[in-house]
Amino acid sequence: MTEATFDGMWRAISEVGRDPGGGYTRDAWSPPDLELREWFRQEAARRGLDAHEDRNGNMWAWWGDPDTPGGGVVTGSHLDSVRQGGAYDGPLGVVSAFAALDDLRARGVRPRRPVAVACFTDEEGARFGVPCIGSRLLTGALDPGRARALTGDDGGTLAEAMRAAGRDPGGLGRDETTLRRVGVFVELHVEQGRALVHEEAPVGVGRAIWPHGRWRLEFRGRADHAGTTRLADRDDPMLPFAETVLAAREAARRHGVVATVGKVRVRPGSANAIPGRVTAWLDARGPEEGPVRALVAELAPRAAEVACESWTPLVEFDPALRDRLAAALGGVPVLPTGAGHDAGVLASAGVPSAMVYVRNPTGISHSPEEHAEPDDCRAGVAALARVVEELCT
Ligand code: GLV
Ligand code: MN
Ligand code: MN
Ligand code: MN
Repeated sequence: MTEATFDGMWRAISEVGRDPGGGYTRDAWSPPDLELREWFRQEAARRGLDAHEDRNGNMWAWWGDPDTPGGGVVTGSHLDSVRQGGAYDGPLGVVSAFAALDDLRARGVRPRRPVAVACFTDEEGARFGVPCIGSRLLTGALDPGRARALTGDDGGTLAEAMRAAGRDPGGLGRDETTLRRVGVFVELHVEQGRALVHEEAPVGVGRAIWPHGRWRLEFRGRADHAGTTRLADRDDPMLPFAETVLAAREAARRHGVVATVGKVRVRPGSANAIPGRVTAWLDARGPEEGPVRALVAELAPRAAEVACESWTPLVEFDPALRDRLAAALGGVPVLPTGAGHDAGVLASAGVPSAMVYVRNPTGISHSPEEHAEPDDCRAGVAALARVVEELCT
């Protein structure tokens, strides 16, 4: 492999969006995101490819005519991050896609179908709450009116953020022309668990994505003075909120799922005021939909209001495609995951999709500690190149 190009690309993005608190914060449509979009354009241009941003903000760099009947082989991932996230979740898939393309071209592979590198916008949903916004809009799984009105913590909407970035949010929505071009999609991703460590394998292939969703829970009470209000006179929403977090943990254990409250907003948010309102976001996932739904139904009566902000049903990747790719890689492990991905959204929309995972020595992800060894990243690029070659020739 074109090791130098991989390392060079990795270095080029390594300072973009570094968070002084640790890791990377690369919100969609923020200055780091725009810088990464420019990096994508330049990487495409260096290879003589035109990078094109579709009307939902996803980026595509095509090698060959994208309008070839039957579509092409698309590989890539995303460049946005969770807040204070790791370096690999997303960018590893995009950088590896360019490196795999270089490898095919260096070896003189002549594709029978066009090949593209793709970058989906706002995969993490860190800014506007809904994950995989770009792929959901592309496939029509997210209503464009709802998307435009999604509001971030700063009170600004997605439409405003796009306008500030010089984009027109008027074009959001299902995009048949772009979708038709995606004959098959392969997303390479750092593993977000330790299955490959246990299997002693540097790469694996995706079997399924657990059903998962995010719910907003509102707890209401009455703001008051922290020093002068007798305990008996308080209506403190922090108490039912705290009980709900503990109940979520217990219910998750009982139902055999996972549940997380990773984001909370307390109003007015003063150390010397009893809160008037607590807003919490519950993320729940599991191998099957029923127990996840049961957990949410059980917790819902504890809050004054519950709103589902996103839901992704179980995704089973195309078994024939998955087995073909695992075989092309010499029989690598086939793994399910509890993490959401654009490949899952595309698979749900009927696009043949697959995933290639790269071993993560600690399994830690959505954290600055996320890691993959350079040798495993190289193995990932080689695997991706092999898979793309298998699909395009
Ligand atoms: C995205 O990475 C998610 O699975 O939450
Ligand atoms: Mn992620
Ligand atoms: Mn990701
Ligand atoms: Mn993800």
